[in-house]
Amino acid sequence: MSDIPVIAVDGPSGTGKGTICSHLATWLGWHLLDSGALYRILAIAAEKYELELNNESAIVEIAGSLDVEFQQPQPGKDITVIFEGDDISQKIRTEECGNSASQIAVLPQVRTALLDRQRQFQQAPGLVADGRDMGTVVFSDAPLKIYLIASAEERAKRRYKQLKQKGFNVNLPRLAAEIAERDTRDSQRTISPLKPADDAIVVDTTTLDISEVIKKIENLVQETLPDAYST
Ligand code: DC
Repeated sequence: MSDIPVIAVDGPSGTGKGTICSHLATWLGWHLLDSGALYRILAIAAEKYELELNNESAIVEIAGSLDVEFQQPQPGKDITVIFEGDDISQKIRTEECGNSASQIAVLPQVRTALLDRQRQFQQAPGLVADGRDMGTVVFSDAPLKIYLIASAEERAKRRYKQLKQKGFNVNLPRLAAEIAERDTRDSQRTISPLKPADDAIVVDTTTLDISEVIKKIENLVQETLPDAYST
């Protein structure tokens, strides 16, 4: 157990986790873990090495020795991800990659293989951790756990806008169906399913814009971790 504080932010896709975590990390001057990126990188690796997404032993082997470098983002920008020398920052953001990542994420040994790597991000002065099981499993003793939710319709709309802005070709009904499929898989898997930790604060962002969510979460940080902002 470490006394370096962690803010765990979990929830399904399209709730604003990525934007909020990137903002919080910059605001506090803390490290950022985008745990979904790890599963997405494994999906790219599986494609590169022509592995089936259920080939647990081969994917575990890759997960154990993943040659990946994360570069801390500029405020408001996605993390830069270099995998085996290639910049895959853009490639990992497609919905197709998210879906493959979600299929890989059901494999228990893969999740175990990624635990240490995720925990290594817990460095001073603190860590903002974005994922599905940050508060329940990976950082279960985090002093602040936030679980973001929003209606399925609103989340699909947000993801659509976000992917369009990144220059991807997307279709709203298909995207909504893919998100629903991913939510079901992520929340029904037997290991580390998507769910709020018992001590998580649930924030419904359906009717809030991003600046309102950020304000709300900054308030939660100041109430729960009054020393954090002064670090
Ligand atoms: O947060 P994201 O959309 O980048 O995550 C992609 C997939 O990775 C998500 O559908 C499920 C999986 N994932 C996970 O199982 N556990 C995490 N902590 C983060 C992501």
